[in-house]
Amino acid sequence: MKVLGIETSCDESAVCLVEAAGSYGADFSFRVLGNALASQAALHAEYGGVFPNLAKREHARALVPLLEDVLRQAGEPTAVQGDPLDKSALAPLLEREPELLERLTEFSSRNGKPDIDCIAVTHGPGLEPALWVGVNFAKALSLAWGIPLVAVNHMEGHIFASLIRCEEGAGLQLTGDSVPLSETCILSPVTFPLLSLLISGGHTELVLSREFMRYERIGETRDDAAGEAFDKVARLLGLPYPGGPEISRLAAEARANSIEADFTFTRPMLHSGDYDFSFSGLKTEVRKLVDNTARLQGQTLEISSQFKMQVAREFEECVADVLITKTLRAIEEFGVETLVVGGGVSANTYIRSELARRLAKSGCTLLIPPPELATDNAIMIALAGYFRAYRGEFAGPDTLRAIGNLRLENAS
Ligand code: KG4
Ligand code: ZN
Repeated sequence: MKVLGIETSCDESAVCLVEAAGSYGADFSFRVLGNALASQAALHAEYGGVFPNLAKREHARALVPLLEDVLRQAGEPTAVQGDPLDKSALAPLLEREPELLERLTEFSSRNGKPDIDCIAVTHGPGLEPALWVGVNFAKALSLAWGIPLVAVNHMEGHIFASLIRCEEGAGLQLTGDSVPLSETCILSPVTFPLLSLLISGGHTELVLSREFMRYERIGETRDDAAGEAFDKVARLLGLPYPGGPEISRLAAEARANSIEADFTFTRPMLHSGDYDFSFSGLKTEVRKLVDNTARLQGQTLEISSQFKMQVAREFEECVADVLITKTLRAIEEFGVETLVVGGGVSANTYIRSELARRLAKSGCTLLIPPPELATDNAIMIALAGYFRAYRGEFAGPDTLRAIGNLRLENAS
């Protein structure tokens, strides 16, 4: 089955074509035939965060060129066979994305119907205006090409990203690139119960699966997501968006130069007795410290680079400590055999190495995607979509909609 994956939940527009076969745990394998991604991060950096309407506009601009790129990589025919897309039929679907409609109609005058079996699109959770662009694009292609649609939960996509295995015997992948084109890959066979620690810009949650593609949330953040905390603290330190990689870089520099903080941040909800998280108090604690220090350093808002490194290091260690301690407790309580870590924050080098170190004694297998697959991409959406399609779970073109606060439990 050839699955076109489309992802527009936040600030990455991504399209890919995956060819997959078989059922999970038995004879499953897949190949990425084409993969393309356009990040808007630099654009949002000016505003210090993702602007939903700007994201929507950029997705609408990016999707057709990405699709063309993917089809070209996959060697799909570019000659037109039959009539070009009927613009009047697609217009109602793309009335809110006139630029996308123009580009798609123009695309169809140059490209015929490709050899694709279904279209998998992220329909939530995420920024609703951004999600709608992908959903409407998918509906338009589905109508034009007469192929079915599958609705994918973005968080389920992150779990699939962690299972991808392309090298023989590579269970734990701490480094690596994205999936190489055309190479046969599989998904790691796992033992259940499986626990997923999902840490991204919009979510922080612990999800238990007692069987494949069944989800039970056991804890989540009560306020800010882990990635959001990284982004906000970076902003307090005058670092650009997205803040996660910036903080991570400064913290690593602090460690390399043995620069330690002479302060500690309170580990939020470490002893709350449940699996919930909270990061907004931590951000306030950092803000107070930064404000006080800025004042001490002479009335200006300048802070030294030494101090920034201390804050970055202590903040990163604080977040890692809370995430990992609570995850280890859940592993013990639920007898977890496999831990999957996914979402943009799982690209964090320190969190990755600490997880591996602290998990080593537990006997639990750790699966973390290589950094390129940890952040948003379309491959994970196509894979989750394949398994939904395999089960016959297609989406009705009239009922499919973007759901900003979609829960993972809904996916089961
Ligand atoms: O999963 P993702 O790409 O998008 C969402 O679905 O939110 O996650 C993006 C988040 C951002 O908050 C970003 O700052 C964070 O992941 N992030 C990191 C790192 N790389 C990305 N956080 C900490 N360390 C990193 N190296
Ligand atoms: Zn994500």
